[in-house]
Amino acid sequence: MKELQPQLLVIFGASGDLMKRKLAPALFRLAEQGLLPERFSVLGFARTPMSDEEFRSMLENATEVNPKNDAWEWIRNRLFYCQGNYGDFTSMQQLRERIEEIDGKLKLEGNRLFYLATPPEVFDDLVVGIREGGLNKSQGWVRIVVEKPFGNDLESAQHLNRLLWTAFDEQSIYRIDHYLGKETVQNLLVLRFGNTIFEPLWNRGYVDHVQITVAESDGIGTRGRYYDSAGALRDMVPNHMFQLLTLTAMEPPISLDADSVRDEKLRVLKSIEPFEPEEVDENVVRGQYGSGEIDGQFVPAYRDEPYVNPNSTTETFVAMRLFVRNWRWEGVPFYLRTGKRLPKRVTEIQIQFRPVPHLLFPPETAGQLKPNLLTLRIQPDEGIVLRVETKVIGMGMQVRSTPLDFYYSQLGTQIPDAYERLLLDAMRGDQTLFMRADEVETAWQIVTPILLRWRNSPAPQFPNYRAGTWGPKEADELLKRDGRKWLTH
Ligand code: BG6
Repeated sequence: MKELQPQLLVIFGASGDLMKRKLAPALFRLAEQGLLPERFSVLGFARTPMSDEEFRSMLENATEVNPKNDAWEWIRNRLFYCQGNYGDFTSMQQLRERIEEIDGKLKLEGNRLFYLATPPEVFDDLVVGIREGGLNKSQGWVRIVVEKPFGNDLESAQHLNRLLWTAFDEQSIYRIDHYLGKETVQNLLVLRFGNTIFEPLWNRGYVDHVQITVAESDGIGTRGRYYDSAGALRDMVPNHMFQLLTLTAMEPPISLDADSVRDEKLRVLKSIEPFEPEEVDENVVRGQYGSGEIDGQFVPAYRDEPYVNPNSTTETFVAMRLFVRNWRWEGVPFYLRTGKRLPKRVTEIQIQFRPVPHLLFPPETAGQLKPNLLTLRIQPDEGIVLRVETKVIGMGMQVRSTPLDFYYSQLGTQIPDAYERLLLDAMRGDQTLFMRADEVETAWQIVTPILLRWRNSPAPQFPNYRAGTWGPKEADELLKRDGRKWLTH
């Protein structure tokens, strides 16, 4: 692992939810593992007035650490706060002075990592403010991490890219997709390219189809304001789901360096033809939850959630069928499905292999023979399960499916949170697990025609699925038409 250089992490939106829930705990755990450099500091910036001391106490409460914990004390002393308005010239000057003061005192050598953890509405102002205030220039390196959502369609993503390039070069821009920081998602690379037995089968010759399910039992909580203007498609598909798809479908990269991996992921996205308007109706299903029950508890309909328009036509569920048009995958459908208020939280990638070519066993047995299924369980109960057919012990020739399984919990080590890995990678300058501009734009190229079609065609009768069920019946029909069914339930 590359040694970390002295540096200052400047977090915009430091009084917000992401800081409290993800970034502060990740920093604490990195400190606990001794992974942060000795000369290191975090400067929070947000609109809320707070002193350094209040900022430290806020994070201490949010992370629920023991204040006497050595690692926490270590990081606590390195936390500072600066109040201001995003992009405002005077605020940016004050921020700059604060940065220089901390940098000088702690000898951080001018290395700066900016982190945009604000709502996306202020990204533009912040990037302009950083540039106009000259914060993007220093005697060390300067990088910027941009949180999701990266645009809300192709045009806005292109605009944000162009704006970022006025202040940073592409090698200094880190677009986060936290799914890439998940241990099990990275394990996909090792499973595929660290074993010889899967790769020869990983193609249209042996794979019948692929399913990717990202199910959540939670609703939208208090995020109604954001979610009602985003919807499930924007929120999950061009980012998290496409990351799972591209890592599953890509060709072996020539090395693990950032551009080799990202080149291959991009090629997969480029092989997916954006839908024509009528194709959207055939291949994409949208849904919105009504009230229902989850784990025996009543839960309200989406339209009754806080900050949601009571007549909202925003989708909370999406399922689609698409094809990766290349030599390896021609004709193999990829079925994607994600939704809120489904019966449980589970993310899985399933590779369904073709049935055996010739049935050797007696008819009563042959009927029970199931094709092999490889399940990559991303979360929870992280692991890998391969379904194989085995003989039932006894004098006959009966078969049954047996799982060959591996669960991470068997190792007894705790799986790090995605943000630990991603923060560390941005700090050490490794872009492999971050999205490149062309990747983001190509993803939006695929998704934007769906958004347009939906905008121009009447929404189905919403709500069209009860909370606590697997989405609208049309999602099942999408697979039934092809003689298949969803495997995660
Ligand atoms: C976020 C989405 O990016 O990912 C949320 O905005 C979603 O709506 C979340 O719940 C899922 O992440 P995870 O890590 O809980 O699967």
